[in-house]
Amino acid sequence: MIRILGLSGSLRNGSYNSALLQAAQGLMPADVELIAGSIAGIPLYNGDDEAATGIPPAVQELKDQIAAADGLLLFTPEYNNSIPGVFKNAIDWASRPAKDMGRVFGGKPVAVLGASPGGFGTILSQDAWLSVLRTLGTRPWHEGRLTVARAGNVFDDQSRMTDAQVRDRLKNFLDGFAAFVGAPSGCVAAAVAIDDANR
Ligand SMILES: Cc1cc2nc3c(=O)[nH]c(=O)nc-3n(C[C@H](O)[C@H](O)[C@H](O)COP(=O)(O)O)c2cc1C
Repeated sequence: MIRILGLSGSLRNGSYNSALLQAAQGLMPADVELIAGSIAGIPLYNGDDEAATGIPPAVQELKDQIAAADGLLLFTPEYNNSIPGVFKNAIDWASRPAKDMGRVFGGKPVAVLGASPGGFGTILSQDAWLSVLRTLGTRPWHEGRLTVARAGNVFDDQSRMTDAQVRDRLKNFLDGFAAFVGAPSGCVAAAVAIDDANR
């Protein structure tokens, strides 16, 4: 069984990115489980607090969840054409202390996807994650891309995905990432169709 941890970068009830994570949980290939983690309860990073009291329990739990997962999926919103501070803050905390970064993130297969009510579906936020993922020493998956635009038309008021086309694109993305996670390091993952719905 392959276990992938999914994190939504939004704390909002009714978050499109949390809804996307929920939809993804129902579309994973056989023998792959997508576990929904959470960034709720992560305090704002403060180096004085870290020096005084170390890693907060919510951060330790997040770190251990990431370390235990075979892969990581970041469901990112986009704020002002970049990564929302609340999400970046959580990952920054998870990178502390630096000597533990390899255990948590080193060589970890990671993919980024996201949903937004606008027309570009978090494309700039997703790109902004790339330099972070490189710095953390992860193994980002680049073959697939999923930008869910006009998210208000994709989910109903119960946060259920209602758009069959987006569901197909999501399934394709998840199949590709799961193959990448399952393949031995250095192997090329199964080819997936390039998702170009928002190009
Ligand atoms: C401070 C702020 C800045 C935003 N900037 C962008 C943006 O640059 N691009 C975009 O597509 N949406 C932007 N939005 C709208 C978000 O995409 C929208 O609030 C979305 O619902 C957030 O994701 P969520 O539904 O998972 O909470 C912004 C929202 C906020 C609060």
